[in-house]
Amino acid sequence: MSVTVKSEREIELMREAGNILAIVHEELAAMIKPGISTLDIDKKAYEIIKSYHCTPSFLNYNGYPASVCVSVNDEVVHGIPSQKHILKEGDIVSLDAGVIYQGWQSDSARTVAVGEISKEAARLIEVTKQSFFEGIRYAREGFHLNDISTAIQQYVEANGYSVVRDLVGHGIGRKLHEDPQIPNFRQKRRGIKLQAGMTFAIEPMVNAGAYEVEWLDDDWTVVTRDGSLSAHYENTVLITKGEPELLSIRKDRKQAAVNQI
Ligand code: MF3
Ligand code: CO
Repeated sequence: MSVTVKSEREIELMREAGNILAIVHEELAAMIKPGISTLDIDKKAYEIIKSYHCTPSFLNYNGYPASVCVSVNDEVVHGIPSQKHILKEGDIVSLDAGVIYQGWQSDSARTVAVGEISKEAARLIEVTKQSFFEGIRYAREGFHLNDISTAIQQYVEANGYSVVRDLVGHGIGRKLHEDPQIPNFRQKRRGIKLQAGMTFAIEPMVNAGAYEVEWLDDDWTVVTRDGSLSAHYENTVLITKGEPELLSIRKDRKQAAVNQI
């Protein structure tokens, strides 16, 4: 396993990638309403990413056919956008996207409400987001990877939900997936010691019911086995000597986000 430490110049390019990705998510969230198709979202994502002279990193990654993963309700991740899949009032939709800016990656995900959603669905989205922030309290030089994983799991389970085991977060940089793997549940080993300059995609996937998942026949779409709702929240995070920097949050909103840790 080789975990890379990024230089200040490399971090600056990842900052730029992350800022653009944050804008992509903002624009996608703004278009979500009943009646649009999940393919409409993908088309928009492709357009915005290109308009910033970036490359959609998921497109053709291991054969994935779109720029954004769109996963609705019991779909956990890697849903494939389709003209036939029309969003309806009450759905929750997870949007996961990645951009490459001058060779450097950023990866982030949000779960968004379609119109009015149930209280329970809203709570799932909120707990998933907050579990990320609980995790990154330990995303600081000197802690170990397992401190993040454990904190995420504890918060999710204390709120009555479960964390997906079959998919994990990851290092990120020149490549979308770098070492180390970052599980959202406690490991027996404490994992690597965190060091300033490491960059991670931390991405809790949380099911309202049991943690087990299955793959659909398209070989991409991951769904909950029990049909329960699932939510996803991800940011690209820079480890520093102090508080972590959230590279995939807009530059003007970063500090406010970190203050909620
Ligand atoms: N954010 C996801 C991940 O970290 C999505 C990548 S899958 C892809 O694995 F194939 F769509 F790229
Ligand atoms: Co990721």
